[in-house]
Amino acid sequence: MKFFADTADIDDIKDLAATGLLDGVTTNPSLIAKSGRDFMEVTREICGITSGPVSAEVVALDHATMMKEAEVLRKIADNVCIKVPLTIDGLKTCKALTDDGTMVNVTLCFSANQALLAAKAGASFISPFVGRHDDNGVDGMELIADIHTIYSNYGFETEILVASVRHVTHVLQAALIGADVMTAPPKVIKQLFNHVLTDKGIEGFLKDWEATGQSIL
Ligand code: G3P
Repeated sequence: MKFFADTADIDDIKDLAATGLLDGVTTNPSLIAKSGRDFMEVTREICGITSGPVSAEVVALDHATMMKEAEVLRKIADNVCIKVPLTIDGLKTCKALTDDGTMVNVTLCFSANQALLAAKAGASFISPFVGRHDDNGVDGMELIADIHTIYSNYGFETEILVASVRHVTHVLQAALIGADVMTAPPKVIKQLFNHVLTDKGIEGFLKDWEATGQSIL
């Protein structure tokens, strides 16, 4: 499963890139606002840190203006992936861009039928939001399982990008289902390293090592 960082924070992205775990980055207008940075400038900087797809989202609601925005965004770098909302105009834009060889991430997906439409429109990635479903008392992971079944049934190449990931159990469940990608806040990706028995093990080994009076260096 590929790991994308769901952030526009440059320091966090650099930090994750250094671990070798980073396969791409996703941003959205809320994350750009949180960064306090200029959209074009920060997106260009992110594209220079990872060679993987970097999602940059259009903000227009109509197809013609989405295409104009996409034209500007895709000039930022070769690894820009245009993010469009799951609407009729968003999917028209998706079809036009992917026919032209541009990567597209279809976002704000909340049903398996919507994911089917995105795949038929040639989306490179579909982003179902699991956390926001959970917030509303619906099991977001059931949506991922349904999309996985549908895409397998028909051999769609659209990659399932699990989004709105809130905790490490979401990551585990996504991997068990066989999702292609998950995007999570850097904090959640870093939590994947943690286990209390790892910490206890290190503590015990170091205590015993000190008792030998030896040093490696
Ligand atoms: O990738 C989409 C994601 O940013 C949404 O996450 O936590 O705002 O639901 P959240």
